[in-house]
Amino acid sequence: MTKEKILLYIGSFKAAEMWMHAAHHLTKGPSFIANHELLYGRIYETLAEDFDKLVEKSIYQFDDEDFACPLLISSIASEILKNYESPSNLDEKNIAMLAFVLIVDHMKGAEELRNYLSDINMLTLGFDDFISAAINQYETYAYSLNQYVKGLGYQY
Ligand SMILES: [Fe+2]
Repeated sequence: MTKEKILLYIGSFKAAEMWMHAAHHLTKGPSFIANHELLYGRIYETLAEDFDKLVEKSIYQFDDEDFACPLLISSIASEILKNYESPSNLDEKNIAMLAFVLIVDHMKGAEELRNYLSDINMLTLGFDDFISAAINQYETYAYSLNQYVKGLGYQY
């Protein structure tokens, strides 16, 4: 039960990283240079680093190497990604709007993981610090995406 739950969170970090990496590849239009590198580029790189830390901490905390299994993680990430429209062949507005939704969902998921670890008495100070710092950074990305979407004249 605990193992399945932790794997689900690990898969969700990988799913978010994959989606944002694709947004980095697929952003288009007048803001391409900035969005490619400074918006989606930074977001996917942060998510890749956070995925890395989450896997390492989970292996250590639960003494289980399955938390690094690429087969398990990719199949969970694939299921999670089915809940989101693919950014391929979307226009810039829709990519940005979906990216905002995804980062907000990702923040909620990371907070759930923190609360779950606390509930089962597995939230070390280091784990707590890692998740809190990650969410802090995601909030900055959510702000950036929200401002960008507003500038495109998109109405939620
Ligand atoms: Fe690239």
